[in-house]
Amino acid sequence: MSSSISAHAVAKLIIAGEHAVVYRRPALAVPIPDITAIVQIAAAPHGHGCWLEAPDLDQRGRVGIDAHPLIDLITDLLTAWHLPTPDVTVTIHSTIPIASGMGSGAAVATALVRAFAAWCDKSLTREDLGAFVYRSEQRLHGTPSGIDNTVIAYDQPISFCRQAPRADGTAQPPRIVPLAIGAPMTLVIADSGERSPTHLAVDGVRQRREQATAHYDALFDAIGAVTLVAEQALAAGDAALLGAACRQNHTLLQQIGVSIPTLDALVAAALKAGAYGAKLSGAGVGGVMFAVCPPDQGDIIRQALIGAGAVKAFITQLQPYQSVE
Ligand code: PMV
Repeated sequence: MSSSISAHAVAKLIIAGEHAVVYRRPALAVPIPDITAIVQIAAAPHGHGCWLEAPDLDQRGRVGIDAHPLIDLITDLLTAWHLPTPDVTVTIHSTIPIASGMGSGAAVATALVRAFAAWCDKSLTREDLGAFVYRSEQRLHGTPSGIDNTVIAYDQPISFCRQAPRADGTAQPPRIVPLAIGAPMTLVIADSGERSPTHLAVDGVRQRREQATAHYDALFDAIGAVTLVAEQALAAGDAALLGAACRQNHTLLQQIGVSIPTLDALVAAALKAGAYGAKLSGAGVGGVMFAVCPPDQGDIIRQALIGAGAVKAFITQLQPYQSVE
């Protein structure tokens, strides 16, 4: 065994359908390879135990002693693989902003599982990987739809839809379909700088839906319909149509109560600067938004977003992708 090993996982962006996806409507997500989480495992002297060090997250703890969702994930892996706790230091570095809708938690967990599988010489299907990360997400978020762990584990654009239980009450796996992208798409992703844990936004939607179920279900249906338009636009490589779908999706996200003035201001600034469309992405109530841009206007729109208060904004390209397994 080498004395150190590392693995990484990419960030993700939900293009359309967040929140409604929890209620079995389709959602679209893509990996964002520009920003990543990296986990390194290094051998340590006998008796050291397994220490987790996450300087970017200001966290440190020891397996078997401290309570932390990532420590629980390591325990899950060792239990599943019937292995004793190794003497190692596990170091996590991530450039993915936390609690901002870019899948930071799922990416760190994915990199951690990949690194441990390599360290322990275990082969891992992407379904195994997704299942370990989903359990970790459940500890953090309560009732995640599964889209974050899936897009990050698959590392490819996907359409994702939870399925209703079978007639006998048994659970069915989600429908996961590779998402075709017909032409490069220029996006600008901007961070509002406001942090919001996913579970709070998801709980808020659940509580409001309990008070007005039919209204919320109609809004989720409308998000589902807009998501299908976005899927067709991506497949056709039609950035203007994708932008229009994003604008409608943002309005619907406002109506379910997950936008905030800062995100609305960023969306408005992007549209004013010439974006085809823009929307918040992820759980909302903070976090990131993105704009779909004409290819030659990415930098103008990026600057407009910084001018409108984004703490960070960067250009990324969605690359053409064939929807075959
Ligand atoms: O964790 P985030 O901010 O990427 O949001 C996840 C997307 C939601 O639809 C809001 C929740 C979920 O579990 O799908």
